[in-house]
Amino acid sequence: MMHLLSALDARNNVWDIISEAKEFKHGNISKKPLKNKSLAMVFEKASTRTRMSFEVGMYQLGGQPLYLSASDLQLGRGELIEDTAKAMSRYVDGVMIRAHKHDDVLQFARYSDVPVINGLTNLEHPCQAFTDIFTINEQKNTLDLHMTFMGDGNNVCNSLLLAAAMVGMDVTVACPSNYEPDPIIFKDAKKVAKKTGSVLKITGDVQDAVKGTDVIYTDVWVSMGDESEESQRLGDLKDYQVNQDILNLAHPDAIVLHCLPAVRDQEITEEVLNGPQSAVWDQAENRLHVQKAIMNWLMG
Ligand code: CP
Ligand code: NVA
Repeated sequence: MMHLLSALDARNNVWDIISEAKEFKHGNISKKPLKNKSLAMVFEKASTRTRMSFEVGMYQLGGQPLYLSASDLQLGRGELIEDTAKAMSRYVDGVMIRAHKHDDVLQFARYSDVPVINGLTNLEHPCQAFTDIFTINEQKNTLDLHMTFMGDGNNVCNSLLLAAAMVGMDVTVACPSNYEPDPIIFKDAKKVAKKTGSVLKITGDVQDAVKGTDVIYTDVWVSMGDESEESQRLGDLKDYQVNQDILNLAHPDAIVLHCLPAVRDQEITEEVLNGPQSAVWDQAENRLHVQKAIMNWLMG
């Protein structure tokens, strides 16, 4: 049974996902490969893009999405993950889960008879990462590039490191100490990078990290679940903002990405978010096309 729990799970499928998402985006696939199939979408946390892209994508592929807030399920009253997984497998053809704890998604997948897709956990956000790679390829027509991730080495950064390593892209993460990406994921990404030739680095030196870079990526400084650390985080990360001065150090044709939602004047300024080098709105749209390719891969 194939699942997408970590970005690493798609290491043999990444190029197919990119090319199929392109076909979906440009309307070259009119068939409904998921006709009469159902996807359960379990959300323990808020979502705009992930929910909409899975929901609309499922309709467009001929299938039926079910939005399930975890707090409305018996899961929210203490029903075991394993019992929920076994029962849900009898109704649907796939399950997408956005959960607080990555281990809960792994546990769910262990007992599921249908593919499970990670729609974001504290550790990873694989669907976002493949959208990001797709968007960079679309904007630049190559992935032989250097990307700088600025700020918190969070779930988005972790999956992005894995996905970038798979396609041979170089990545420098610019972050303060204590905000580095997950060490196990970084090690896994390095292993993949060894095969593809991509160079992965972590540094505290912002100026050096962005000098001549092709892509600047950032995400919120306070992720869902980190709210109690807000004031500490805003202080620790204040020198890692993506603003015009930072962008001026990058390659003149560099693009800026952000998975969204954005917090203006924290991790990014309004000027950059909506400036001429920003590709964030195309990136947001691309969640739909890439989600369709992912669902078709796992459920088609
Ligand atoms: N980027 C992303 O996953 O957005 P949502 O939290 O709105 O789903
Ligand atoms: N890192 C953010 C991403 C939101 C899409 C979070 O986990 O809240």
